[in-house]
Amino acid sequence: MNELMNNFSATDVFSVKNEPLTEKEEINLRSEIEHLLSANNAVIIAHYYTDPKVQALAEATGGCVADSLEMARFGKKHPATTLLVAGVRFMGETAKILSPEKTVLMPSLHAECSLDLGCPKEEFNVFCDAHPERTVVVYANTSAAVKARADWVVTSSIAVELIDYLDSLGKKIIWAPDQHLGNYVQKRTGANMLCWKGSCIVHNEFKAKALFRMKKLYPDAAVLVHPESPQEVIDLADVVGSTSQLIQAAKIIKQQRIIVATDRGIFYKMTQLCPEKILMEAPTAGEGASCRSCAQCPWMRMNGLKTIFTGLYQGGKEHEILVDKELCRQALVPLNRMLSFASNLNIERNKIHT
Ligand code: 13P
Ligand code: SF4
Repeated sequence: MNELMNNFSATDVFSVKNEPLTEKEEINLRSEIEHLLSANNAVIIAHYYTDPKVQALAEATGGCVADSLEMARFGKKHPATTLLVAGVRFMGETAKILSPEKTVLMPSLHAECSLDLGCPKEEFNVFCDAHPERTVVVYANTSAAVKARADWVVTSSIAVELIDYLDSLGKKIIWAPDQHLGNYVQKRTGANMLCWKGSCIVHNEFKAKALFRMKKLYPDAAVLVHPESPQEVIDLADVVGSTSQLIQAAKIIKQQRIIVATDRGIFYKMTQLCPEKILMEAPTAGEGASCRSCAQCPWMRMNGLKTIFTGLYQGGKEHEILVDKELCRQALVPLNRMLSFASNLNIERNKIHT
């Protein structure tokens, strides 16, 4: 038995939370994870919002750090037989639907998403049944059952382009579940959209008045906003985009100082790509603030070195993503439509909306 296993009792290891590690524990844990990855022919697929240590590990071990669209694509094309998805549950489910033959593990199956939780399949089906003439477009941040009901799945990186395309075909749309992204896309495209009223507990916390005051304090700063934020916050943005688009923007925008309205996990990649820039968090405090998340998704934070280790070591019902075969078959249709639409757009995908 190796040093790491000697350092933890069985109960400690398997009830692990992501408490701070000593330097030695961290080195041991990383080497254990590397060993498990190669023993299980596994690869780590991490989202930009995860802890910087998780992102660094994914990069160092040949995995990927990406937005939700790229995570889906990477998992599908990578030859590994086990995918360790460090993100939230819908990302693990998407990976499983796209690669049903692979084992998909997650550090915690309790890593939810408020958008997914706010769009239960029974209510969503009633909503869709009431508008049978509409094309159903759902955000990737939904359960497999909700995707199974949809005509299209979409991520924020291609939402404007997809709705624009459907609008050009004369389609009327049901959009779910994020109301802010839906409103933003509707404004940009002029499409006929009926929006579900979900929201992200992280982006919902950004405050326009406080951001306005911050802009006054730093008139030289550029403001980068994820479109899950409220409209008044989007209205103050120099750039609106998905996580990957915001990272690109931070790199190429001429301003040295950048105020960022999205989860602070994104700073890892931004700092790596443009270390000379001054990055600041957009305010979550101010009038009406009740900050429960403070620019940090609580579910993304369930992914840490300890939980990745546990996920890989233990697997099984505590960590493995399983999706009903029939749901997989149904949800695959709109997911594949999204992937082929995205690959046709590929060259333009990182286009920045200002
Ligand atoms: P991206 O698709 O931009 O990665 O966003 C996913 C997400 O959950 C944002 O809150
Ligand atoms: Fe869901 Fe918001 Fe967390 Fe993204 S940041 S996973 S939308 S709760």
